[in-house]
Amino acid sequence: MLQILENFSLKNFNTFGIDASARYFVEINHEDELVELFMDPQWLQMPRLILGGGSNMLFVKDFDGLVIRINIRGIEHRINHQEVFIEAGAGEVWNDLVNFCVARDYAGIENLSLIPGSVGASPIQNIGAYGVELKDVFRSCRAFEIATGEFKTFSKEDCQFGYRDSIFKNELKEKLIIVSVKFQLSLIPNINLKYGAIEQELANRNISSPTIKEVSQVVSHIRVSKLPDPSTIGNAGSFFKNPVIADEQFHEVQSKFPEVVHYPAGDGLVKLAAGWLIEQCGWKGKVVGHTGTWKNQALVLVNHGGATGEEVYSLSSQIIDSVYTKFGIVLDREVNIIS
Ligand code: FAD
Ligand code: EPU
Repeated sequence: MLQILENFSLKNFNTFGIDASARYFVEINHEDELVELFMDPQWLQMPRLILGGGSNMLFVKDFDGLVIRINIRGIEHRINHQEVFIEAGAGEVWNDLVNFCVARDYAGIENLSLIPGSVGASPIQNIGAYGVELKDVFRSCRAFEIATGEFKTFSKEDCQFGYRDSIFKNELKEKLIIVSVKFQLSLIPNINLKYGAIEQELANRNISSPTIKEVSQVVSHIRVSKLPDPSTIGNAGSFFKNPVIADEQFHEVQSKFPEVVHYPAGDGLVKLAAGWLIEQCGWKGKVVGHTGTWKNQALVLVNHGGATGEEVYSLSSQIIDSVYTKFGIVLDREVNIIS
């Protein structure tokens, strides 16, 4: 029997640690419970929010609807020659899946070590870090379609993955609940050291041919040195996306700011480091009321304790304005704003 809780505090269910509440809250442990839930038409009519680990959300106010927390567990793995096929429940913790794979020398997601959140949310923004994106290992996902009550499978092509983007953030936004994800990993490591910081850290450790365990350890070490731990300082990782702009606009910016940190993005596009843009505007490490930006990473907005969602949101608007004024570039929020 599903337990629907009323006026439920979400403070421990979002990594920003914002003290918002949900009018109704339900935890789903098995996909059949989704069918059972939506047999009652009142939940079809009400605003809904699907919640995983709450590590990419900012609650600007209380949620006046039903929060559906996905806790569907289970990891299955099968080896065929050198290929490893994994299927994981949407409620599995992403980093537990990474550790499960790294411990067995299943290669492919070691660069995505220590990203917070759930397996089910990983396709939503096509999580990425240190030169690897989810799409590189993703095969398909199974999702419950709320309007029809049917389960559907989405292939990699269906998902239309892009940088921090997928169909689930666009046409299919809030229409589906992902219940499991299938990945294809390999027993033959394809070590990816594209990201300079990894090579640097391996050199510091005198490692020339790293194993996937060593890559995972190095990535974890870099992340811990740069990013605040949500269990002590509330945050949701990068608050904005790195802006991707056309070559012509980039040359204009570069002519005024020759040191602008940038990366080629293909198709006549250039990606800029939003953290650099924000730091240049004087925001890095700044404390504003209960909120601010992180001292080691200006792209991360933090809750120093007791911040409201409005305060964090208002700081993000001030940052957008100042980056626009100085560079003529509009920053896009990466975090999902629940308002
Ligand atoms: P939530 O925050 O709960 O939800 C995020 C979105 O997905 C919401 O729109 C929600 O409705 C939807 N959703 C969640 N579960 C489901 C489901 N089962 N079905 C349908 N929709 C669903 N991200 C990166 O890509 N790379 C990083 O390096 C990275 N580093 C981070 C570091 C820190 C310290 C933190 C706090 C966050 C970081 N993030 C990073 C962001 C975050 O970890 C990812 O976006 C993660 O995938 C969010 O997972 P979650 O389960 O917490 O999702
Ligand atoms: N930089 C600064 N000042 C800062 C922060 C960054 O000048 O305060 C410059 C530095 O030159 C640095 C460069 O920006 O070398 C890039 O910084 P970093 O390596 O920390 O990566 P990022 O571009 O800021 C992105 C992702 C992260 C991901 C890392 C590693 C986005 C929006 N963010 O950050 O993802 O972990 O790369 O791959 O793409 C997240 O999505 O929540 C997240 C943390």
